[in-house]
Amino acid sequence: MKKKVSYWAGRAGITLLGVTIVLTAFASLPKHASAAMSLPDRASAAGCPSGMSCGSYSIPGLGARKQQILKAGASTLDLAVAMLETNTMQATYASGDGKTTDAANFGIFKQDWYMLRSACSRFLGLTSSQYAAGAFLNSSLSTDVACMNQSQRHYGLSTWFAGERYGQTGIGHPNTPDILRYTKAIYWLQSQLTSRSANLSNDTRFWVAVPAI
Ligand SMILES: *[C@@H]1O[C@H](CO)[C@@H](O)[C@H](O)[C@H]1NC(C)=O
Ligand SMILES: *[C@@H]1O[C@H](CO)[C@@H](O)[C@H](O)[C@H]1NC(C)=O
Ligand SMILES: *[C@@H]1O[C@H](CO)[C@@H](O)[C@H](O)[C@H]1NC(C)=O
Ligand SMILES: *[C@@H]1O[C@H](CO)[C@@H](O)[C@H](O)[C@H]1NC(C)=O
Repeated sequence: MKKKVSYWAGRAGITLLGVTIVLTAFASLPKHASAAMSLPDRASAAGCPSGMSCGSYSIPGLGARKQQILKAGASTLDLAVAMLETNTMQATYASGDGKTTDAANFGIFKQDWYMLRSACSRFLGLTSSQYAAGAFLNSSLSTDVACMNQSQRHYGLSTWFAGERYGQTGIGHPNTPDILRYTKAIYWLQSQLTSRSANLSNDTRFWVAVPAI
């Protein structure tokens, strides 16, 4: 089962010669990306990872939020993950992201309960069915960031990416094309955020979309 059902929520169809091609957004597409797929501000082809579409647009208040997250101790990689997961970098999605037990997601990075209870000191020792405890991250940005740090250290980055994308299944099978593409998308977002320091504090949101698998 796909862990990140939310990725598949940002879909837009293009009809080409009568065949509907479904594009799936890793990052949810900006609201103004209509079904006609006029994607805003497409980044240069050289900058965008091959096979993906990338771009940027502005969200009022996002710059302040980026700074708040960085000040809570997040790395720029963490910032990229949050930017991909939600438009506004807030945990305002449905509780657990519509999932339960080990697959439930919490906080602005949508960390899954399996990894939280396996790697984050606050939750160590809790069981799969105690997932509701993860909602604590919703109200504690510092714990959310600390869990990212501990989890990345616990798993090592490449396995961490696999789990972040595909849950417990991903941890057991880390190098699938889908996971590698997810990883590339995150690194692209990070590169956009860091290559000009203004991007770490202004309202620009970068996004990446890739074809459905
Ligand atoms: C976080 O809290 C908000 C406000 O209480 C709520 O709407 C949202 O569903 C919660 N998000 C999660 C992921 O639990
Ligand atoms: C975790 O935090 C420590 C201390 O701030 C830092 O040195 C380390 O690079 C962080 N690890 C990750 C994976 O971000
Ligand atoms: C940072 O900011 C501007 C606009 O958002 C953009 O031109 C630039 O490409 C961004 N990232 C990089 C790669 O510098
Ligand atoms: C953010 O900073 C970049 C780099 O300076 C700039 O190109 C971009 O237009 C800025 N975005 C906003 C929303 O001000």
